[in-house]
Amino acid sequence: MTVWIHRVRNDIDSTLEAAVGQSAERSANLAAAMRYAVVGGGKRFRATLTIAAAEMVGGCYEQAVRIGAAIECVHAQSLIHDDLPCMDDDSLRRGKPTVHRQFDEATAVIAGDALLALAFEILADELTHPDATIRARLVLRLAQAVGQDGLAGGQMLDLYPPVNASQSDMEACESRKTGALIRYAVEAGAMLGQCSPEELSRLIQFAERLGLVFQIRDDVLDVIGDPEEVGKALGKDIASGRASATAVLGVENAILQSHRLERECLEALSGFGSNALALKDLTSFAVRRHH
Ligand code: IPE
Ligand code: IPE
Ligand code: MG
Ligand code: MG
Ligand code: MG
Repeated sequence: MTVWIHRVRNDIDSTLEAAVGQSAERSANLAAAMRYAVVGGGKRFRATLTIAAAEMVGGCYEQAVRIGAAIECVHAQSLIHDDLPCMDDDSLRRGKPTVHRQFDEATAVIAGDALLALAFEILADELTHPDATIRARLVLRLAQAVGQDGLAGGQMLDLYPPVNASQSDMEACESRKTGALIRYAVEAGAMLGQCSPEELSRLIQFAERLGLVFQIRDDVLDVIGDPEEVGKALGKDIASGRASATAVLGVENAILQSHRLERECLEALSGFGSNALALKDLTSFAVRRHH
């Protein structure tokens, strides 16, 4: 597993490095900000998920790496914008100054825009998949995952939560702002191999629960995490009136909920037997991670 993860991280980084590229005609500062945000940092949870899902259904590793790199571009964009003063106003990300602190706000906004565009450029490239129908589906599903019913819609619910948010309000927000991209990561991986409609629907059930688990753990770490280890400012959700899992359920119940969701994840994977080992390990990591 560790060797595999190292290989995945290296391959994702070199794909991203090449995709951002180097050109004398372009803005060196924009490329530097994009590289700063996307190359060499983060856990690569979503990219790893795509590759694990693809390998489970017999998909091609190189194609999965390109899709994983595209997803990491979207994820990096979401973090750059999430950290801006008009959103969460954060100064530290992945143990380093946030992009708007290291560069400036305008550069951060534009680097986010360019990373989002780059994700679609990577997916639409023939190198990602020879079949244009699959490329179009990869693009369509990513657009849906980041749009009004996905990440962008979830960020709105996060910034403007309803008064006295219920558990279902919290889940509606978290399954969009974070869950949608995690669901896409699994679905895109599955698109690369052989998967019956029934298997696909079980994988989607798995991915939807995993996305919630991942954000619930992020919310729990906001309360009980070690800032050094997490690499970002903590203790922010409740202070800023967010309907996070801990604000709505309390820490203990949020942890219990993540364990319930973990069981549902494992149930959804049960039909895949030992082929699902990597996905099971990623689930356990999502529930118990300290960073
Ligand atoms: C942080 O995501 C933001 C959330 C959606 C929870 P990650 O915890 O995956 O951040 P990195 O990529 O590892 O830095
Ligand atoms: C992240 O939620 C959601 C995104 C889509 C970026 P948070 O705002 O809780 O993520 P962190 O804690 O800043 O990483
Ligand atoms: Mg946020
Ligand atoms: Mg934030
Ligand atoms: Mg958070």
